[in-house]
Amino acid sequence: MDTIALPKPDFGRDMTVQSALEKRKTVREISEKKLSTQALSNLLWSARGVNRKKGPFGVPGITAGSASNAQEIDLYVALEAGVYLYDPAHHLLALVAVGDFRVFALGEAQGKTGAKAPVRLIYVVDVDKFSKAGFQEPGLNTPETQKAYYYIDTGLIAGNVYLFAASQELAAWFHNCNKAELSKILKLRNDQHVLFGQTVGYPEKK
Ligand SMILES: Cc1cc2nc3c(=O)[nH]c(=O)nc-3n(C[C@H](O)[C@H](O)[C@H](O)COP(=O)(O)O)c2cc1C
Repeated sequence: MDTIALPKPDFGRDMTVQSALEKRKTVREISEKKLSTQALSNLLWSARGVNRKKGPFGVPGITAGSASNAQEIDLYVALEAGVYLYDPAHHLLALVAVGDFRVFALGEAQGKTGAKAPVRLIYVVDVDKFSKAGFQEPGLNTPETQKAYYYIDTGLIAGNVYLFAASQELAAWFHNCNKAELSKILKLRNDQHVLFGQTVGYPEKK
């Protein structure tokens, strides 16, 4: 499947932000059970979906802030069938690589825990997007400041994912990954860098 159309996010399940904060934690023991397309839709929208048609500096707003609203962090999604790029404007997943590459999005250093988890997010910065931001403040062109910005912007998305997972009784785990292999698999340009992975699924029942 070249694209996976995602249903509209469903806000059906109520939990206060404070209750989700009370439950937020890293869960590494994750079962193989797949997420429904609806759950995937809800997850990705919560992570960095469009929540305002008119956001700052001439582009739509998303659920995670970014420096000058550059939205330079792309979310790739490793599923059993392949790796997809989340397109927030159209709320769909576009196929990037066919095959099960979830192991690389976890990285060998993490051991086998949660290796078969259904969804593994891959955080990739597209540095070129800083030059296209609607507000060109000087730091956007300085490598050191760019780095600070893109790691902070990653953390804001990852925090959304942790809170979403807590609110849905899903497991979430932020972690390192095999950057070199993923760069090849995703055919990234020189100004795109793999930063981190985050695994999501159902907690393993003990
Ligand atoms: C920048 C960063 C890198 C992390 N890298 C890893 C990792 O490579 N492997 C891992 O198992 N956990 C990793 N974690 C998860 C932390 O170990 C975890 O968040 C921390 O122990 C606190 O636990 P908690 O999330 O349950 O509060 C990382 C977390 C952050 C913020």
